[in-house]
Amino acid sequence: MRIFLIGFMGSGKSTLGRPLAAKLGYKFIDQDALIEERFKMSINEVFATYGEAQFREAEHEVLKSFEASDNLVIATGGGAPCFFDNILVMNNIGFSIYLKIEPKTLVNRLKTSFTSRPLIAGKSEKELLEYVTEKLTEREPFYNKATVSIKALDIKVSDIMQVLNHCLNLQLKTNNI
Ligand code: S3P
Repeated sequence: MRIFLIGFMGSGKSTLGRPLAAKLGYKFIDQDALIEERFKMSINEVFATYGEAQFREAEHEVLKSFEASDNLVIATGGGAPCFFDNILVMNNIGFSIYLKIEPKTLVNRLKTSFTSRPLIAGKSEKELLEYVTEKLTEREPFYNKATVSIKALDIKVSDIMQVLNHCLNLQLKTNNI
């Protein structure tokens, strides 16, 4: 099984993905980290050096490469489901979960985040709220194609486990942690 966590920047994909993978005994993968390895530079540098279009190409290639491995929890980049046929690729080779969070909460998280993100760099709080609200509206039709959507404010790994067990009707073997 490959589980793709999707959602806007700051929705908790990596924060939840790591313990979820540990619980399932799966490997955790941060899609952005793989892109950084490919280019041997940070996401910021990839955007600055090659531009967003090449970043999106790489994102698509990395996504398709997941088919070769199994038992993965993947924290995707916030824009990943919204380019090419990426959301269909995810749904074809795995199970996608949209972590749904309101713009104001996203902004509160993003303004204190240590991860530097090229698309929101240098924005004031007001600009950030405008950007997140607009971008989220544009992206939600893609996010809503996820296998399941979860209201993700205060969500716990055990909640995601419940959803997985329910939807997949699987007795997922869990590590006792
Ligand atoms: C992006 C989100 C980032 C990263 C890149 C572009 C986006 O990932 O892929 O900066 O388009 O929303 P996170 O969602 O992990 O911040």
